Amino acid sequence: MTLDGTRILLIIAGGIAAYKSLDLIRRLRERGAVVRPVMTRAAQEFVTPLAVGALSSGHVYTELFSREDEQDVGHIRLARDCDLVLVAPATADLMAKMAHGMADDLASTVLLASDRPILIAPAMNPKMWAAAATQRNLAVLKNDGVDVVGPLEGEMAESGERGLGRMAEPLDIVAAVENLLSRPKPLAGRKAVVTSGPTHEPIDPVRYIANRSSGKQGHAIAAALARLGADVTLVSGPVSIPDPAGVNTQHVERAEEMRDAVIASLPADIAVMVAAVADWRVVSSSGQKIKKQPGEAPPPLQLAENPDILKTIGHHAQRPQLVVGFAAETQNVEENGRAKLERKGADLIVANDVSPETGIMGGDRNSVRLISKTGVEAWPDLSKDEVAERLALWIATQIGGAKP
Ligand code: CTP
Repeated sequence: MTLDGTRILLIIAGGIAAYKSLDLIRRLRERGAVVRPVMTRAAQEFVTPLAVGALSSGHVYTELFSREDEQDVGHIRLARDCDLVLVAPATADLMAKMAHGMADDLASTVLLASDRPILIAPAMNPKMWAAAATQRNLAVLKNDGVDVVGPLEGEMAESGERGLGRMAEPLDIVAAVENLLSRPKPLAGRKAVVTSGPTHEPIDPVRYIANRSSGKQGHAIAAALARLGADVTLVSGPVSIPDPAGVNTQHVERAEEMRDAVIASLPADIAVMVAAVADWRVVSSSGQKIKKQPGEAPPPLQLAENPDILKTIGHHAQRPQLVVGFAAETQNVEENGRAKLERKGADLIVANDVSPETGIMGGDRNSVRLISKTGVEAWPDLSKDEVAERLALWIATQIGGAKP
């Protein structure tokens, strides 16, 4: 039995697909899972707690303010006494509540209080699924680390409309559960530090020197390492994207602050320096806004070199076992990458061509070459998430199994 003893908290929300949850409970239990059901009020309009209770052969939780339920386990324990929270069907309404952290009934409260992996199987009318608000909520949930199975294309039970919105089949949901729970965690017990985004070097209180880095690649790498089980500290310069799920994110502005935060995170097993650190800072940034003086020349900006964080880490007494740097180049990508590997004391340089015509800086795709002492490996054009996923796996292979 593939799910032998696995404890699944199944949240059934209100939708016609709730009838499929009965079959889902049966399929999960066939594989040895223990299913504890929670039903929203709307779900009880579609299937009865009696039927759900009979199939799961246990108590069905329905009320947040029920003395009986609270005495039984209490909603906080309910949220955590499981290996996985599965929401099937997940309605547009429940997804919206989850995305906004609302907790006004038992299901939404349990979801907010849970620290377990969450898998949702959305089911709704195709227009509701395609609605901008639902797609926005979906993106938020994915960024929060929620896994999603379906929905499928099909004819809606109630309206006969076709389109995306039908709940995934129970067996597909079971497969998604198995997949999620059997995900290897080759970096469990390992510590990683990742830098991401640009740095801002102040000129005066209102002006700064910056660059075009969005932080997308660094943030994706931090999230991918965390998914493989690493304990990740992300030191991020100023970016407009959200903190990734499952990662300890520290926000800094200047290169010197970034260096200090990285050093404070040592010892670590893995360092991945993705930030586009400004090479220079303004020697004495003004405490007051610099004013234009009529008839005078613009003020000269005297620059000093910033600390090279990658180089510092690559040569540090507490050097991590694996040090990875990036190389943003506009020409001679391989040659420059190889020189950087040597100069910075890195084990790997991920080199990319950031000339404006590639659209990499700020874009969603990346095309990289891995340069190490043993050679060069060119990867195809991939999304930044795919690059992150592959790089995290590459790192896991290099660093080997559990920590000695
Ligand atoms: N890096 C760093 N600290 C700096 C500059 C760069 O940690 N002050 C890191 C980056 O995070 C990246 C790598 O060094 O991992 C290479 O960055 P890049 O900007 O390509 O190289 P530079 O060192 O700035 O070299 P050059 O200006 O010659 O391209």
